[in-house]
Amino acid sequence: MRKINKAIIPAAGMGTRLLPATKAIPKEMLPIINVPTIQLIVQEAINSGIKNILIVISKSKESIISHFRPNKDLEKILIQRGKKQYADLVKKTGNLAKIDFIYQKKPLGLGHAIGCGQKWTKNEPFAVLLGDDVVLTDKKSHVPALKQCINAFYKTNSCIVGVQPVAREVISKYGIVKPVNKKDLSKKVFKLADMVEKPEIKDAPSNYAALGRYIFTKDIFNFIKKTKKDKSGEIQITDALRKMMKTKNGVHSCIFSGTRYDLGNKLGMVKAFIDFALQDSEISNSIKKYLKKK
Ligand code: G1P
Repeated sequence: MRKINKAIIPAAGMGTRLLPATKAIPKEMLPIINVPTIQLIVQEAINSGIKNILIVISKSKESIISHFRPNKDLEKILIQRGKKQYADLVKKTGNLAKIDFIYQKKPLGLGHAIGCGQKWTKNEPFAVLLGDDVVLTDKKSHVPALKQCINAFYKTNSCIVGVQPVAREVISKYGIVKPVNKKDLSKKVFKLADMVEKPEIKDAPSNYAALGRYIFTKDIFNFIKKTKKDKSGEIQITDALRKMMKTKNGVHSCIFSGTRYDLGNKLGMVKAFIDFALQDSEISNSIKKYLKKK
């Protein structure tokens, strides 16, 4: 079986839910403390063994390119001023991985954004990570969410949708999976019978939501091409996956471990700030004291 060396990160979305912050700054460049969320996503991919990354952007997202590009001038100034530790940070950020960029020219949805990467994948299987979902790796297992999905791909030889259970109130925000057998939900990896994009609670086939981690084979591109736009004019990856479920290998889900934050909304962002601060050796003690006082 071919190894997963590549990942696509769609980052062309408009970030409407975080306006006005996202009026001039891509939502992917908003930080958790001092690290832009897209860098956390890239880091998870690298920690999962990914060597090549393609970020799908739009015209207004070019600061993402600058962020991952080396900046020798800035490094030089920082070194001259005796700030080597910051120069090192700049250097590291500019050399994280081999990152390519491609433009999604029209906002035609997630399925279309992934389709933009077809040529780049060169027929190899690949991972997809969505920037709205940041996952803090489980402290006990140390296996990143994406790596767990990659392992599920090696085990099943089928496309993988990474999932976790979500609260009833937020079911209608996600793609919700339906296992072949309900009792399969007790396993870590199970085969899917169906998936519904943003269902109403009463129509939801489970409470297990797709949370921004996927593994695809090249076949997904044919299904994306056959997928029609939905009511809002977008090509949904969920609809392409539903077509793929009818093939021999089908599609499986992997229930990944790790704490996941929805950075597409205010509450998720604040929770992420607090948890990341509590893990940051520089500020964790002060933040604990501050939270206690509050
Ligand atoms: C997308 C997918 C959805 C998935 C979600 C995860 O929706 O279409 O199936 O559950 O990402 O964050 P979006 O949030 O882009 O509307």
